[in-house]
Amino acid sequence: MSLFINIICFLGLLLIPGSHTLPITSPPSKAPAISPLRNPDYGPIVDQSSYYTSYSGKELAFPANMTTALPATEEGPPGPDDLLFQNLLGAEWVIYSFYQAGVENFNESSFTSLGAPNTTYGRIVEIRDNEAGHGRVFQEAISNTSVVPGRCNYDFGPLVTDPAAFLAASTILEISSMAFLTALLLEAKLPASKSSLMAIAQTESRHETWGLIDIWNVSPFAGPTDTVYPYANQILTTTAVFVAPASCPAINPPFPAPNQNLPLMSYKTESTTLLPGSPITFTFTDPTNQPKFKKGEKYFATYFHGLNSLSVEFNPANNNSVIPPEFESRGIILVVISDMPGAPTMESVIAGPVFIVEQPVIVNSVA
Ligand SMILES: *[C@@H]1O[C@H](CO)[C@@H](O)[C@H](O)[C@H]1NC(C)=O
Ligand SMILES: *[C@@H]1O[C@H](CO)[C@@H](O)[C@H](O)[C@H]1NC(C)=O
Ligand SMILES: *[C@@H]1O[C@H](CO)[C@@H](O)[C@H](O)[C@H]1NC(C)=O
Ligand SMILES: *[C@@H]1O[C@H](CO)[C@@H](O)[C@H](O)[C@H]1NC(C)=O
Ligand SMILES: *[C@@H]1O[C@H](CO)[C@@H](O)[C@H](O)[C@H]1NC(C)=O
Repeated sequence: MSLFINIICFLGLLLIPGSHTLPITSPPSKAPAISPLRNPDYGPIVDQSSYYTSYSGKELAFPANMTTALPATEEGPPGPDDLLFQNLLGAEWVIYSFYQAGVENFNESSFTSLGAPNTTYGRIVEIRDNEAGHGRVFQEAISNTSVVPGRCNYDFGPLVTDPAAFLAASTILEISSMAFLTALLLEAKLPASKSSLMAIAQTESRHETWGLIDIWNVSPFAGPTDTVYPYANQILTTTAVFVAPASCPAINPPFPAPNQNLPLMSYKTESTTLLPGSPITFTFTDPTNQPKFKKGEKYFATYFHGLNSLSVEFNPANNNSVIPPEFESRGIILVVISDMPGAPTMESVIAGPVFIVEQPVIVNSVA
């Protein structure tokens, strides 16, 4: 950066007649500084440096230690997957910031006092580092013709002050990351983007698997396939709830984009065992954004599991449903309310999604 700026200033000086000595008060340079983050060789290089595995500081990891959004530095059309990576970086800042808060707020005894292994804090630090590396990969995937979104402020409440809630939320976040990465594959235009999404989803699955085995002492397996849900941005919207209002850099694009602003959905914990065949009563948790059900229309609770989906008629008068007994009780089940069976289009989804993790011990400790 500095070399570039110096050249610009030097040229500027040459263009001012008689300005062969530096003016005492130089006018502010109009040329915007190009962030060094635009240079792929700046800072620790992902998969070459061990930084994104073994940085052990409590301070922000690179590139999160350089928080600003990066304006476009070149004119021209956006790269084919820029929007996808902007959305993904928006989600990554949420996830990174969650782990960063855990690294800052906890230490080894926070987790050993819960009976978790003495390696737990170290693994959380390492996951934080991996997430920083993902952030760097996404920054680099965005073209110079597009804005690279910066970090906002995030409000995780007790999820980052209570170590048990933190561990449970971590497992759910890793599971949802896997699900939105899989869904984003459907949107990616470039084969190289698809393979990086796959590679990162694998890492999230390893994080999740570690938690399931080492912390929760349950089977980590999800049956033969994990769950695919077609509408990634609807999942991203559920991570956007952690973004503190009006806290993002002004040039950040909206997150996610596009955003259907679907009503957020949950369930009454006492209504269900979360296992296939169990009744479940849904709730719509944002009083300012409630679903609009029309009289005489049919609605469905559409459940996605593995590569399948099953729809059951949904009665908005009581919000009750039954988790399809056909499903294997492994992995995750994702449910939305739709106005067409199977939720065949993004627009047919009218509320949700909700993640049901078939390791109920984890979910119940979040609730
Ligand atoms: C984007 O800009 C940076 C900084 O000017 C430069 O190092 C990099 O090579 C550019 N990337 C591409 C793909 O042109
Ligand atoms: C951020 O961290 C990187 C890697 O340690 C370092 O090179 C850089 O100087 C840091 N930047 C700031 C602003 O602290
Ligand atoms: C962790 O933090 C607690 C509270 O601040 C402190 O009492 C404890 O000694 C720390 N444990 C370690 C291993 O640093
Ligand atoms: C962690 O626990 C293992 C046994 O479970 C023990 O061998 C090891 O020394 C412990 N490490 C630390 C840093 O306490
Ligand atoms: C079902 O959900 C709707 C939308 O939030 C709410 O207005 C209604 O009271 C709920 N029904 C019951 C029986 O809780």
